[in-house]
Amino acid sequence: MIYDEENLSAVHEYLCGNSVNILSGDFAETLKSAASGDFVYLDPPYDPVSKTASFVAYSQEGFGTQEQVRLKATVDDLTKRGCKVLVSNSDTLFIRNLYRDYQIATVKAARAINSNGGRRQKITELLITNY
Ligand SMILES: C[S@@+](CC[C@H](N)C(=O)[O-])C[C@H]1O[C@@H](n2cnc3c(N)ncnc32)[C@H](O)[C@@H]1O
Repeated sequence: MIYDEENLSAVHEYLCGNSVNILSGDFAETLKSAASGDFVYLDPPYDPVSKTASFVAYSQEGFGTQEQVRLKATVDDLTKRGCKVLVSNSDTLFIRNLYRDYQIATVKAARAINSNGGRRQKITELLITNY
């Protein structure tokens, strides 16, 4: 669904009726205020499953191997601080190895983006948790 009016209105009501701060910036900066007991969901640009398959150029700098490693260091830091962390990413050997000390579950996710309608199928993704 492209436009879910009911859900959009419900989110609007919630955001207006509660104390909510929306921060925009690099994850290392915006997560500085996360404290013990907080739940942190990280949905970063995914590690490419092949050289051409994935889109990761959200910023001019892109989000390559070094950024994935920097994000993992942030997850380590959040874990030490007592936050509950959930990270989603693609099912690649690199990501599995990077988060080998965490719980890793595999899920089937529908991917709607494919120029060929017949190839829009479910792919495997990883849900990584520290709890
Ligand atoms: C897979 S998308 C997440 C989409 C989001 N969950 C949603 O439903 O709209 C990855 C996001 O990471 C953001 N991103 C890229 N580099 C970042 C960084 N260094 N710090 C914080 N966010 C970053 C991108 O702008 C993009 O919105």
